[in-house]
Amino acid sequence: MKTKRCILTLLAVCLVMAVSAQSDMNKFVDQLLQKMTLEEKLGQLNLAPASDEIVTGGNVDTEVGARIASGQLGGVFNLKGVDKIKALQDIAVKKSRLGIPLIVGMDVIHGYETIFPIPLALSCSWDLAAIENMARVSAREATADGINWVYSPMVDISLDARWGRVAESGGEDPFLGSQIAQAYVRGYQGDQYDTDRVMACVKHYGLYGAVEGGRDYNTVDMSHLRMYNQYFPPYKAAAEAGAGSFMSSFNLVDGQHATANRWLLTDVLRNQWNFNGFVVTDYGSIGEMTNHGFGNLKQNSVKALKAGTDMDMCSNGFIGTLAESLKDGSVTMADIDLACRRVLEAKYKLGLFDNPYRYLDAKRRARDIYTDEHRAMSRQLATETFVLLKNEHQTLPLKKQGKIALIGPLANDRANIAGTWCVAYTPERYQTIKEGMEQALAGKAQLLYAQGCNLTRDAALQEAAEFGKHIPRVDEAKAKAEALAVAKEADVIVCAMGESAEFSGESSSRATLEMPDVQRELLEALVALGKPVVLLNFSGRATVLSWEQAHVDAIMNVWFAGSEAGRAIADVLFGDVAPSGHLTVTMPRALGQVPIYYNHLNTGRPVAEGADRYQKFASNYLEERNDPLYPFGYGLTYTTFNYGKLNLSSDHMAKSGSVEAVLTVGNTGNCEADEVVQLYIRDLVADVSRPVKELKGFQRIHLKAGEQREVKFTITPDMLQYYDINGNIVQGDGEFDIMVGSNSRDVISTRLVVN
Ligand code: BGC
Repeated sequence: MKTKRCILTLLAVCLVMAVSAQSDMNKFVDQLLQKMTLEEKLGQLNLAPASDEIVTGGNVDTEVGARIASGQLGGVFNLKGVDKIKALQDIAVKKSRLGIPLIVGMDVIHGYETIFPIPLALSCSWDLAAIENMARVSAREATADGINWVYSPMVDISLDARWGRVAESGGEDPFLGSQIAQAYVRGYQGDQYDTDRVMACVKHYGLYGAVEGGRDYNTVDMSHLRMYNQYFPPYKAAAEAGAGSFMSSFNLVDGQHATANRWLLTDVLRNQWNFNGFVVTDYGSIGEMTNHGFGNLKQNSVKALKAGTDMDMCSNGFIGTLAESLKDGSVTMADIDLACRRVLEAKYKLGLFDNPYRYLDAKRRARDIYTDEHRAMSRQLATETFVLLKNEHQTLPLKKQGKIALIGPLANDRANIAGTWCVAYTPERYQTIKEGMEQALAGKAQLLYAQGCNLTRDAALQEAAEFGKHIPRVDEAKAKAEALAVAKEADVIVCAMGESAEFSGESSSRATLEMPDVQRELLEALVALGKPVVLLNFSGRATVLSWEQAHVDAIMNVWFAGSEAGRAIADVLFGDVAPSGHLTVTMPRALGQVPIYYNHLNTGRPVAEGADRYQKFASNYLEERNDPLYPFGYGLTYTTFNYGKLNLSSDHMAKSGSVEAVLTVGNTGNCEADEVVQLYIRDLVADVSRPVKELKGFQRIHLKAGEQREVKFTITPDMLQYYDINGNIVQGDGEFDIMVGSNSRDVISTRLVVN
């Protein structure tokens, strides 16, 4: 009783404090707005990129300096370093009329100088605590260099492997994607904006992952039912976790540009999900609206502002045209004030009005960036993201003995292994896989190395796919001969092949998903030697590995694992750590299956799961089966797990009740390892067609060799809900399949009746 009273009092005190903080902020912003001229208000809505050359030897580029001094810039992004940022902040604070500080953003996507695995890889760890920690470390390093706002998390559901930005996402699942989105927001922002935390910017709102044909920046068209049930959940989850800002996307939603879509930005984001931060456009979006056929910059700036966009990234639409639109009545001062208020509130929340220099402590760089602790975390987390896809004859782990050949264009590279989007990375300090393996071997075995081939046969394509992360071009015949000579001497061959970092990411859509020819041909020649071959497959997306699955002994997808990739890969290759990643994207057998994802709707003419023969008048392809090569949730390790019988505490559940689903999972091999136990549910009869299965829970457990563990999931009503076309929650009832397994295909199933 007493404790309950204490808790209630505490809650009441917190509420009063929150309300009074809110009213302090309102008062402050009200007063400031009253002092501001129209030009100063529009300046706050204007965001510009700032490259390192803008500040040289403490001197700020004259034009940029003048814009800041006259209050024409609300923020800058992608400038790094306390000295440089301080030089700009000094002008904003000391030379502009009202001294309003700048907000300072950056694309900190998977780490700052300590780079973590790319987001798609991170999601394959299914380790929410570790992802939260990586965001916390990213925030600590970024703030130590003067940044206070990051353009992450990217939470776009991505079903199409052709789209390069799959690499930046958390994969295809809305449930897992939502949990990951919240973990990022918590990690970046903390409970309050301390000086080692940043404001998150959730992107790209919305539906950017559904671009047609997987071609970047392309059209999106989708039903509201699909939006609410499949694509919106991670954005909503991030808003509910308190994300401070959102970035609108480049694509259309219902025929309107996302940046100028009032339903999306105001009705759904603010009114349905209670988001109270600010919305920034993506790079140049308002300007691009003209190409979509929406009119000129002035008209589009009006549409964007009226829809709920607050800050214009790089279009110069708000700063350049809204004054005129105010004059002719197409916007009101209230519209401008609202956007300006939201930007000022963000700065207030970040504490910039209390102390514009709170993120500008020059002493922090040495203490907080690329520290041993951060690097150890990155290395450990990287080992959790590798997905072992095949391991015949227990080829892995490798023994530290004899002669090992390491071959491939990614084997001795320190830039590409970090991945796409590394604005602040310092590759010269990172180790290659070759170096990582040499260190791990410490002379116990001989490591032979050959690059073996180019990234691609086409030099122009290679240059595009490098985007500055250079891989030496070699003479094809000579390099192949060298590789074969080296391989002939070795006991086992490890191939580091696949995509380069910039084969995925922004503007890196692909029309094929197989390994580039020149690499595949070398791999075939190496396999033909008849020695054990291990493929370390580098990729920023699901690639097609059908040939490799049929011919290579062991395949591990290593994605792009960040600055510590070299050591992390060695840790897992030699069995110091057992692999534990599970796929968060379905890996197809062939390009023609794309988009392929596990939580699809059924057709009226389904083929049996796993059917390997074409069936006339059924929903299938003439030349390829329907099921994927590797299903969502799949991942092997160096041991095996046994799943016991799945029991429900009752096979009936009241609509507002709950039941327990319990089973025993045992480690039946002889090494300790982590397993990700996954819970899926299917609603068998509903008012709208529901997916054949949906992830509703998971547990990452560690089991010693021979150990057994009871795993329990509580089935609750929220797991049985879905949305109608207006975004209202519908409580499902009737019959449900409850499924538990190590991936979305291999599940044990039982029936639950809810009434
Ligand atoms: C990308 C965003 C990024 C922005 C700023 C855009 O091209 O789509 O993801 O945050 O640039 O660099």
